[in-house]
Amino acid sequence: MTTPVLFLLDHTRPLEETLWVLGDLCKDRDLGIQVLVCPDEALLRLVTPAGWEALTGHPVVSEQELPKYLEQKPLAVFCQDWRQDLAPMLAHSGIPVLLWGDELPPGVPPGSVALPEFEAMEILRRLEQLATPQDFAGKTVLVTAGPTVEDIDPVRFITNRSSGKMGVAIAWAAAVRGARVLLVHGPMTAEVPDFPGLEKFPVRSAQQMHDVVRDHWSEAQVAVLCAAVADFRPDHYVPQKIKKIEGEGMVLVLERTPDILAELGAMPKHPFLVGFAAETDDVEINALNKLRRKHCDLLCANDIRKPGSGFAGDTNQITIYAPDGTVLALPMLSKQGAAYRILEEIAKRV
Ligand code: C5P
Repeated sequence: MTTPVLFLLDHTRPLEETLWVLGDLCKDRDLGIQVLVCPDEALLRLVTPAGWEALTGHPVVSEQELPKYLEQKPLAVFCQDWRQDLAPMLAHSGIPVLLWGDELPPGVPPGSVALPEFEAMEILRRLEQLATPQDFAGKTVLVTAGPTVEDIDPVRFITNRSSGKMGVAIAWAAAVRGARVLLVHGPMTAEVPDFPGLEKFPVRSAQQMHDVVRDHWSEAQVAVLCAAVADFRPDHYVPQKIKKIEGEGMVLVLERTPDILAELGAMPKHPFLVGFAAETDDVEINALNKLRRKHCDLLCANDIRKPGSGFAGDTNQITIYAPDGTVLALPMLSKQGAAYRILEEIAKRV
């Protein structure tokens, strides 16, 4: 299903910026936004209707057709500038307006917001908020993401494979539902975006991740721990680069890192706990074991051998296990899509 959003475009704004932002919004997203553009006359002389259609995949909406499109109840009307001549029609429609600017004019429909930044991510976040229940408003969600890195000496380290994309998707999905999000993340290849409601805590080692979580877990009503924490670290750090000796091997003594999830689960009073399990075999047995052993309220398991369910990709196929025996096998989804479904399951239970 796609949700139509009307974009009233104005020639007084920089064209290249408009094209850039719309191009970003038209990329595949799970919300499935249908970008319908209504450019003004001057813009239509710069880019033809065929050009707009090539960009958005939909025919241009003329100003005469606006009433008809408003009747179809789009999710929102984005205005690059406030058009006094269209104001009565927009007010009457009751459709929320997203207005590029610092403040809203009087009389805009409920749910309308001013957007100081003309930025695809921010427009998307606002649209997703309009389409999503704000059931996490007033709640704090703690998320761990990415790998941890355990240093051997200044140049060598042990780590786990993890892009951190799943954790970032969870953080985004929680913020979209209105949560304050504390994202504790190891060094990640995925970009860690900035968005309102998100507080980032970059860490390197499992110990650092543990310490930040310990300092903040009591603020959270929900904790989603999807970091791929290294299970072992060298028993001591060597401050100078270890020299290799011709013909000789090397013995590295490893010790266990703290198990953050298990430690939280063992607390008498802890946030609603969601764990992750990336498995290569006996997925269900291992997942149910982890669910019980670490006292999770939900456990999300994925079989990393399945194509599309691996580490660096953009998709994931997750099965969610609950202590009451509920098993929910999600289809293959983008990590963003999977994150929305996980948040829905959490929302039902908190
Ligand atoms: O590594 P393992 O498969 O046991 O991870 C399962 C869950 O436990 C994941 O949610 C992971 O983030 C969490 N975990 C943790 N601290 C560790 C190891 C795992 O929080 N040291």
